[in-house]
Amino acid sequence: MKERGWIAACVSVVLFALLLFGYEATSPNQHASHTSSHQHGAKENQGVHRREQSHQAGLSPTSKPQFISPIPQTIAFDRQQAKIGWQLFNDANLSSNRMVSCETCHDLATNGAETIDVSIGVHGKGIRNSLTIFNSAYNYRFFWDGRVNTLHDQIDGPVHSSVEMDTDWPTIERYVSENSHYQTQFEQANLAISEATIKQVLVEFMRTLNTPNAPFDRYIQGDSKALTAQQIRGWEAFQSEGCISCHRGINVGGGMVMRFGFLGEQTIGAERSNDTGRHRSTGKNEDMYLFRVASLRNVADTAPYFHDGQTKTLQEAIKIMGESQLGKTLAPHTITDIEAFLISLSGERPSILQEFENE
Ligand code: HEC
Ligand code: HEC
Repeated sequence: MKERGWIAACVSVVLFALLLFGYEATSPNQHASHTSSHQHGAKENQGVHRREQSHQAGLSPTSKPQFISPIPQTIAFDRQQAKIGWQLFNDANLSSNRMVSCETCHDLATNGAETIDVSIGVHGKGIRNSLTIFNSAYNYRFFWDGRVNTLHDQIDGPVHSSVEMDTDWPTIERYVSENSHYQTQFEQANLAISEATIKQVLVEFMRTLNTPNAPFDRYIQGDSKALTAQQIRGWEAFQSEGCISCHRGINVGGGMVMRFGFLGEQTIGAERSNDTGRHRSTGKNEDMYLFRVASLRNVADTAPYFHDGQTKTLQEAIKIMGESQLGKTLAPHTITDIEAFLISLSGERPSILQEFENE
């Protein structure tokens, strides 16, 4: 009973948070997406639906884990387009100084991200930690501050950002159309070379980057031996402590925007860095320190943590989350249990990468 009370308290806190800081009504970007595309509309609705479900079902640690669904084993995609996208992704000629490719900051050999705290682009240091592009197609919001709602719209970001590739689409389009190798490839794929098709193949490539078969995914699909006893305890703590209220969905996050430092006196966004989150792109006061709930897929492999990359270990990140998002000090054994659970969210490297590398 006592436990239930706690859980109910967590649920109320989070619903309160959603009301206060959730981003459903006020974002101009989102309005745009609601009106511009049916597909986005459907995605948003799914998100809302999930939240409603959770409210009804309560957050019982013993209930079936309907809040997180497994990464699909296979996905339908256009292989020819994805292959061109892969080549462009690896091509440093896309950047203004011809030295920085997408892959420079999104390492395909390891985790789809990088191990330094903040990314270094054509003009040196940026302000944010690189996000992994593995499974990014399953996010509902993009970037650390969730300022963009589709993978397609996301692409303008790194290309235009002066700290990343510092270039523009006409320049890229010119480079690709003058390159005989790309000419042949686009021709074979029946595509005319344009800004739209270049973006299209890059997105098609990124859509292929799923990491299936994480131990946790096998567990929720019925393989009760896929997790250790500690990992199961961690999964239960993840639910009962309230992490699941924000980190949920197929990517165990990636779906909402919340205030970093929501409850904590310590370790709020302001104390970490000058990065004001969503506020940076909207300029609105109410957007101060709003960040996307990070996806926790493969999180054990994507240190350092948080938007500023200032937190080195997963244990430290879990401790900070307890303080800043839940207003509580987690017991050391709870932290190590949750860490063990988070490790179980690491899946297999996207198989298409090896295929492309070997062709
Ligand atoms: C200089 C390093 C750098 C380069 C080059 C770069 N990125 Fe990124 N990428 C980042 C950083 C840093 C972020 C997070 C930025 C933010 O949240 O404001 C990011 C975010 C992303 C995301 C969002 C993932 C998510 O879950 O929201 C995608 C997708 C992505 N990049 C793809 C690309 C593509 C495609 C290219 C090449 C056209 C590229 N990146 C080039 C550093 C880089
Ligand atoms: C109120 C919503 C909320 C709750 C509850 C919450 N988180 Fe988070 N979490 C976030 C947000 C927002 C971020 C992104 C913060 C940033 O870096 O700007 C995040 C980031 C993280 C990260 C860093 C991921 C990365 O790639 O850097 C980890 C790990 C994490 N959370 C684990 C947890 C755990 C474990 C719990 C429960 C103890 C928890 N979170 C509870 C909202 C929440």
